[in-house]
Amino acid sequence: MTNLKRVAHVAILVKNIEESLKFWRDALGLELGHIEEVPSQAAAVAFLPLGETEVELVQPLTDDSGLAKYLAKRGGGMHHLCFEVEDIAAKLEELKGKGVRLISKEPVTLGNGKQVAFIHPQSTGGVLVELYQG
Ligand code: CO
Repeated sequence: MTNLKRVAHVAILVKNIEESLKFWRDALGLELGHIEEVPSQAAAVAFLPLGETEVELVQPLTDDSGLAKYLAKRGGGMHHLCFEVEDIAAKLEELKGKGVRLISKEPVTLGNGKQVAFIHPQSTGGVLVELYQG
């Protein structure tokens, strides 16, 4: 078994980051690390770190992205849960061997050299799960 290291982040899809911060920062008490635009996702993301993990508030910036369509269809809410793993390629092979349905058959390498892959909610009880190797 390839080891999971930590919950890297919980991503929450929101209509408006500033509005959402009224709860997540101002009422609940998380600290806002920073906000950045992620052009590949056509989204802005607010990072609120807590211990070894982060809450990410994800706001679509266009109407036609996958995230925007998801938001329009289901409203805001939890979008995905991300685990950091030691060896993402090995983990994907392991999951395939166990009959788990994957969205990403192979890890996708991001601009920053990090690798990610997604597991289909059909295999997880309804939660989109992201794997990440730093
Ligand atoms: Co993520």
